[in-house]
Amino acid sequence: MRTLREIPDLREALDAVRRRDQRIALVPTMGNLHAGHLALVEAARRQADVVVATIFVNPLQFGPSEDLDAYPRTLTDDQARLEAAGCDLLFTPDTATLYPHGLTEQTQVCVPGVSEGLCGGARPGHFDGVATVVSMLFNLVQPHLACFGEKDYQQLAVIRKLVADLHFPIEILGVPIVRAEDGLALSSRNGYLSEDERLVAPMLYRTLCQARNALEAGEAPEPVLAQANETLRQSGFTPDYLELRARDLGPVTATTREAVLLAAARLGPTRLIDNLILTLPS
Ligand code: PAJ
Repeated sequence: MRTLREIPDLREALDAVRRRDQRIALVPTMGNLHAGHLALVEAARRQADVVVATIFVNPLQFGPSEDLDAYPRTLTDDQARLEAAGCDLLFTPDTATLYPHGLTEQTQVCVPGVSEGLCGGARPGHFDGVATVVSMLFNLVQPHLACFGEKDYQQLAVIRKLVADLHFPIEILGVPIVRAEDGLALSSRNGYLSEDERLVAPMLYRTLCQARNALEAGEAPEPVLAQANETLRQSGFTPDYLELRARDLGPVTATTREAVLLAAARLGPTRLIDNLILTLPS
Protein backbone atom coordinates (compact mmCIF):
# COMPACT_ATOMS: atom_id res chain seq x y z
CA MET A 1 0.00 0.00 0.00
CA ARG A 2 1.31 3.46 -0.91
CA THR A 3 0.86 6.39 1.48
CA LEU A 4 0.61 9.80 -0.20
CA ARG A 5 0.40 13.24 1.42
CA GLU A 6 0.45 15.63 -1.53
CA ILE A 7 -2.31 16.36 -4.06
CA PRO A 8 -0.13 16.16 -7.22
CA ASP A 9 1.13 12.70 -6.15
CA LEU A 10 -2.43 11.51 -5.57
CA ARG A 11 -3.60 12.82 -8.94
CA GLU A 12 -0.67 11.21 -10.74
CA ALA A 13 -1.23 7.81 -9.09
CA LEU A 14 -4.97 7.89 -9.88
CA ASP A 15 -4.49 9.09 -13.47
CA ALA A 16 -2.49 5.91 -14.06
CA VAL A 17 -5.33 3.84 -12.55
CA ARG A 18 -7.91 5.56 -14.75
CA ARG A 19 -5.80 4.99 -17.88
CA ARG A 20 -6.04 1.27 -17.07
CA ASP A 21 -9.86 1.68 -16.92
CA GLN A 22 -9.91 0.36 -13.36
CA ARG A 23 -12.76 1.00 -10.95
CA ILE A 24 -11.82 3.17 -7.95
CA ALA A 25 -13.51 3.02 -4.52
CA LEU A 26 -13.01 5.68 -1.85
CA VAL A 27 -13.22 5.17 1.93
CA PRO A 28 -12.91 8.51 3.78
CA THR A 29 -11.96 8.32 7.47
CA MET A 30 -10.44 10.34 10.29
CA GLY A 31 -8.15 7.46 11.28
CA ASN A 32 -7.80 5.52 14.56
CA LEU A 33 -9.19 2.67 12.55
CA HIS A 34 -11.27 -0.18 13.99
CA ALA A 35 -13.27 -3.07 12.55
CA GLY A 36 -16.09 -0.66 11.55
CA HIS A 37 -13.75 1.26 9.24
CA LEU A 38 -12.22 -1.95 7.94
CA ALA A 39 -15.70 -3.26 7.00
CA LEU A 40 -15.90 -0.26 4.65
CA VAL A 41 -12.51 -1.13 3.12
CA GLU A 42 -13.62 -4.75 2.67
CA ALA A 43 -16.91 -3.67 1.03
CA ALA A 44 -14.91 -1.34 -1.24
CA ARG A 45 -12.48 -4.16 -2.08
CA ARG A 46 -15.37 -6.36 -3.26
CA GLN A 47 -16.71 -3.67 -5.60
CA ALA A 48 -13.62 -2.04 -7.09
CA ASP A 49 -10.16 -2.72 -8.54
CA VAL A 50 -8.40 -0.04 -6.54
CA VAL A 51 -9.28 0.99 -2.97
CA VAL A 52 -8.28 4.48 -1.82
CA ALA A 53 -8.64 5.28 1.90
CA THR A 54 -8.14 8.74 3.33
CA ILE A 55 -7.17 9.71 6.86
CA PHE A 56 -7.75 13.36 7.67
CA VAL A 57 -8.93 14.73 11.02
CA ASN A 58 -11.03 17.48 9.48
CA PRO A 59 -10.93 20.65 11.65
CA LEU A 60 -13.84 22.14 9.69
CA GLN A 61 -16.32 19.62 11.17
CA PHE A 62 -15.32 20.12 14.84
CA GLY A 63 -17.01 22.81 16.96
CA PRO A 64 -14.86 25.20 19.04
CA SER A 65 -15.44 23.20 22.27
CA GLU A 66 -15.09 19.75 20.66
CA ASP A 67 -12.29 17.18 20.72
CA LEU A 68 -10.19 18.17 17.65
CA ASP A 69 -6.89 18.27 19.56
CA ALA A 70 -7.66 15.17 21.64
CA TYR A 71 -8.86 13.13 18.63
CA PRO A 72 -6.69 9.96 18.52
CA ARG A 73 -4.01 9.90 15.82
CA THR A 74 -2.53 6.41 15.25
CA LEU A 75 -1.11 6.49 11.71
CA THR A 76 1.36 3.58 11.93
CA ASP A 77 -1.28 1.16 13.29
CA ASP A 78 -3.81 2.47 10.78
CA GLN A 79 -1.45 1.84 7.86
CA ALA A 80 -0.92 -1.78 8.96
CA ARG A 81 -4.68 -2.36 9.33
CA LEU A 82 -5.48 -0.80 5.96
CA GLU A 83 -2.84 -2.83 4.20
CA ALA A 84 -4.12 -6.07 5.81
CA ALA A 85 -7.70 -5.20 4.76
CA GLY A 86 -6.65 -4.81 1.12
CA CYS A 87 -6.34 -1.05 0.72
CA ASP A 88 -4.12 0.02 -2.22
CA LEU A 89 -3.55 3.68 -1.56
CA LEU A 90 -3.75 5.88 1.53
CA PHE A 91 -4.08 9.64 1.14
CA THR A 92 -3.35 11.48 4.40
CA PRO A 93 -2.87 15.19 3.73
CA ASP A 94 -1.98 17.97 6.19
CA THR A 95 -4.57 20.59 7.10
CA ALA A 96 -2.58 23.21 5.14
CA THR A 97 -2.74 21.01 2.04
CA LEU A 98 -6.55 20.84 2.00
CA TYR A 99 -7.16 24.32 3.45
CA PRO A 100 -4.18 26.45 2.29
CA HIS A 101 -6.00 29.74 2.93
CA GLY A 102 -7.24 28.81 6.41
CA LEU A 103 -10.64 27.67 7.61
CA THR A 104 -12.44 31.04 7.58
CA GLU A 105 -11.50 31.65 3.90
CA GLN A 106 -12.56 28.15 2.85
CA THR A 107 -15.41 27.75 0.32
CA GLN A 108 -17.97 25.50 1.97
CA VAL A 109 -20.71 23.13 0.89
CA CYS A 110 -24.02 23.28 2.76
CA VAL A 111 -26.62 20.53 2.37
CA PRO A 112 -29.93 21.98 3.59
CA GLY A 113 -32.72 19.95 5.20
CA VAL A 114 -31.02 16.69 6.17
CA SER A 115 -28.14 18.55 7.89
CA GLU A 116 -30.60 20.18 10.30
CA GLY A 117 -31.74 18.66 13.62
CA LEU A 118 -30.38 15.49 15.27
CA CYS A 119 -26.53 15.76 15.25
CA GLY A 120 -26.80 18.94 13.15
CA GLY A 121 -28.83 20.55 15.95
CA ALA A 122 -26.34 19.60 18.66
CA ARG A 123 -23.27 20.37 16.49
CA PRO A 124 -23.92 23.55 14.44
CA GLY A 125 -21.82 23.68 11.25
CA HIS A 126 -20.70 20.05 11.66
CA PHE A 127 -22.32 18.75 8.48
CA ASP A 128 -21.12 21.75 6.43
CA GLY A 129 -17.60 20.72 7.45
CA VAL A 130 -18.30 17.09 6.52
CA ALA A 131 -19.96 18.01 3.19
CA THR A 132 -17.05 20.34 2.32
CA VAL A 133 -14.24 17.85 2.97
CA VAL A 134 -16.12 14.97 1.35
CA SER A 135 -16.79 17.10 -1.78
CA MET A 136 -13.08 17.93 -1.86
CA LEU A 137 -12.11 14.26 -1.55
CA PHE A 138 -14.64 13.31 -4.27
CA ASN A 139 -13.04 15.91 -6.54
CA LEU A 140 -9.47 14.85 -5.75
CA VAL A 141 -10.03 11.09 -6.03
CA GLN A 142 -12.95 11.02 -8.52
CA PRO A 143 -13.96 7.53 -7.40
CA HIS A 144 -16.65 5.41 -9.05
CA LEU A 145 -17.86 4.34 -5.62
CA ALA A 146 -17.56 5.68 -2.06
CA CYS A 147 -18.33 3.77 1.16
CA PHE A 148 -19.83 5.27 4.33
CA GLY A 149 -21.03 3.61 7.54
CA GLU A 150 -24.68 3.47 8.60
CA LYS A 151 -23.45 4.20 12.12
CA ASP A 152 -23.37 7.86 11.10
CA TYR A 153 -26.86 7.61 9.64
CA GLN A 154 -27.47 11.34 9.23
CA GLN A 155 -24.01 11.80 7.67
CA LEU A 156 -24.86 9.11 5.10
CA ALA A 157 -28.12 10.94 4.29
CA VAL A 158 -26.19 14.22 3.90
CA ILE A 159 -23.70 12.56 1.52
CA ARG A 160 -26.47 10.97 -0.56
CA LYS A 161 -28.16 14.36 -1.02
CA LEU A 162 -24.82 16.06 -1.72
CA VAL A 163 -24.05 13.57 -4.49
CA ALA A 164 -27.53 13.93 -6.01
CA ASP A 165 -27.65 17.74 -5.79
CA LEU A 166 -24.10 18.36 -7.12
CA HIS A 167 -24.38 15.62 -9.77
CA PHE A 168 -21.29 13.74 -8.64
CA PRO A 169 -21.13 10.57 -10.81
CA ILE A 170 -20.37 8.48 -7.70
CA GLU A 171 -22.25 5.49 -6.30
CA ILE A 172 -22.69 5.70 -2.51
CA LEU A 173 -22.59 2.43 -0.60
CA GLY A 174 -23.95 2.37 2.98
CA VAL A 175 -22.30 -0.29 5.17
CA PRO A 176 -24.12 -1.76 8.23
CA ILE A 177 -22.96 -0.87 11.75
CA VAL A 178 -20.18 -3.04 13.19
CA ARG A 179 -20.67 -3.62 16.94
CA ALA A 180 -18.64 -4.98 19.83
CA GLU A 181 -19.88 -8.29 21.26
CA ASP A 182 -21.92 -6.46 23.91
CA GLY A 183 -23.67 -4.39 21.23
CA LEU A 184 -21.79 -1.10 21.55
CA ALA A 185 -21.29 0.41 18.08
CA LEU A 186 -17.55 0.61 17.38
CA SER A 187 -16.28 4.18 17.38
CA SER A 188 -12.94 5.95 17.68
CA ARG A 189 -14.53 7.91 20.55
CA ASN A 190 -15.09 4.70 22.60
CA GLY A 191 -11.41 5.03 23.55
CA TYR A 192 -12.34 8.07 25.67
CA LEU A 193 -14.55 5.92 27.95
CA SER A 194 -13.28 4.98 31.43
CA GLU A 195 -13.48 1.30 32.43
CA ASP A 196 -16.75 1.94 34.31
CA GLU A 197 -18.25 3.98 31.48
CA ARG A 198 -17.32 1.25 28.98
CA LEU A 199 -19.48 -1.17 31.03
CA VAL A 200 -22.45 1.21 30.91
CA ALA A 201 -22.02 2.23 27.23
CA PRO A 202 -23.84 -0.81 25.67
CA MET A 203 -27.02 0.39 27.47
CA LEU A 204 -27.43 2.84 24.59
CA TYR A 205 -27.82 -0.05 22.13
CA ARG A 206 -29.91 -2.11 24.57
CA THR A 207 -32.26 0.80 25.18
CA LEU A 208 -32.68 1.33 21.43
CA CYS A 209 -33.41 -2.41 21.02
CA GLN A 210 -36.10 -2.29 23.74
CA ALA A 211 -37.68 0.77 22.12
CA ARG A 212 -37.55 -0.84 18.67
CA ASN A 213 -39.27 -3.98 19.98
CA ALA A 214 -42.03 -1.92 21.59
CA LEU A 215 -42.54 0.18 18.44
CA GLU A 216 -42.58 -2.88 16.18
CA ALA A 217 -45.19 -4.39 18.54
CA GLY A 218 -47.38 -1.36 17.85
CA GLU A 219 -46.88 0.71 21.00
CA ALA A 220 -47.31 4.48 20.62
CA PRO A 221 -43.99 6.29 19.89
CA GLU A 222 -44.32 9.08 22.46
CA PRO A 223 -44.40 6.95 25.66
CA VAL A 224 -41.86 4.50 24.21
CA LEU A 225 -39.37 7.32 23.53
CA ALA A 226 -40.06 8.91 26.94
CA GLN A 227 -39.37 5.58 28.66
CA ALA A 228 -36.16 5.06 26.64
CA ASN A 229 -34.96 8.58 27.56
CA GLU A 230 -35.65 7.82 31.22
CA THR A 231 -33.76 4.50 31.03
CA LEU A 232 -30.75 6.28 29.51
CA ARG A 233 -30.77 8.94 32.24
CA GLN A 234 -31.04 6.33 34.98
CA SER A 235 -28.08 4.47 33.45
CA GLY A 236 -25.96 7.63 33.68
CA PHE A 237 -26.31 9.06 30.17
CA THR A 238 -27.27 12.62 29.30
CA PRO A 239 -29.29 12.19 26.10
CA ASP A 240 -28.80 14.81 23.34
CA TYR A 241 -31.68 13.40 21.29
CA LEU A 242 -33.68 10.22 20.84
CA GLU A 243 -35.92 10.39 17.80
CA LEU A 244 -38.01 8.21 15.54
CA ARG A 245 -37.81 9.31 11.89
CA ALA A 246 -38.73 7.91 8.49
CA ARG A 247 -35.78 6.23 6.74
CA ASP A 248 -35.16 9.41 4.69
CA LEU A 249 -35.10 11.33 8.02
CA GLY A 250 -38.45 13.00 7.27
CA PRO A 251 -41.17 12.94 9.95
CA VAL A 252 -43.01 9.71 10.73
CA THR A 253 -46.58 9.86 9.44
CA ALA A 254 -49.53 7.45 9.64
CA THR A 255 -48.28 5.72 6.47
CA THR A 256 -44.58 5.41 7.44
CA ARG A 257 -43.43 1.77 7.64
CA GLU A 258 -39.65 1.90 7.21
CA ALA A 259 -38.29 3.99 10.06
CA VAL A 260 -35.11 4.63 12.01
CA LEU A 261 -34.57 5.27 15.69
CA LEU A 262 -31.62 7.60 16.26
CA ALA A 263 -29.89 8.57 19.47
CA ALA A 264 -26.97 10.62 20.72
CA ALA A 265 -26.10 10.65 24.39
CA ARG A 266 -23.20 11.79 26.52
CA LEU A 267 -21.56 9.47 29.00
CA GLY A 268 -19.19 11.61 31.05
CA PRO A 269 -17.39 13.75 28.46
CA THR A 270 -17.89 11.24 25.64
CA ARG A 271 -20.67 11.68 23.10
CA LEU A 272 -21.94 8.38 21.66
CA ILE A 273 -24.33 7.94 18.73
CA ASP A 274 -26.26 4.91 17.53
CA ASN A 275 -29.30 4.02 15.45
CA LEU A 276 -31.56 1.09 14.61
CA ILE A 277 -33.67 0.53 11.53
CA LEU A 278 -37.17 -0.79 12.18
CA THR A 279 -40.48 -1.57 10.50
CA LEU A 280 -43.59 0.01 11.99
CA PRO A 281 -46.76 -2.14 11.94
CA SER A 282 -49.53 -1.08 9.57
P1 PAJ B 1 -14.87 8.50 10.94
O1 PAJ B 1 -15.61 8.77 12.18
O2 PAJ B 1 -13.42 8.11 10.99
O3 PAJ B 1 -15.65 7.38 10.15
C1 PAJ B 1 -15.25 7.01 8.86
C2 PAJ B 1 -16.31 6.09 8.27
O4 PAJ B 1 -16.39 4.90 9.06
C3 PAJ B 1 -17.72 6.74 8.28
O5 PAJ B 1 -18.37 6.45 7.05
C4 PAJ B 1 -18.38 6.05 9.45
O6 PAJ B 1 -19.79 5.97 9.34
C5 PAJ B 1 -17.75 4.66 9.37
N1 PAJ B 1 -17.86 3.95 10.65
C6 PAJ B 1 -17.40 4.36 11.87
N2 PAJ B 1 -17.73 3.47 12.83
C7 PAJ B 1 -18.42 2.47 12.21
C8 PAJ B 1 -19.04 1.25 12.65
N3 PAJ B 1 -19.02 0.88 13.92
N4 PAJ B 1 -19.65 0.49 11.74
C9 PAJ B 1 -19.68 0.84 10.42
N5 PAJ B 1 -19.13 1.97 9.94
C10 PAJ B 1 -18.50 2.77 10.82
O7 PAJ B 1 -17.18 9.84 9.59
C11 PAJ B 1 -16.09 10.38 9.54
O8 PAJ B 1 -14.92 9.79 9.98
C12 PAJ B 1 -15.89 11.77 8.93
O9 PAJ B 1 -17.04 12.54 9.17
C13 PAJ B 1 -15.59 11.74 7.40
C14 PAJ B 1 -16.72 11.11 6.59
C15 PAJ B 1 -14.27 10.98 7.14
C16 PAJ B 1 -15.39 13.20 6.89
O10 PAJ B 1 -14.38 13.84 7.58
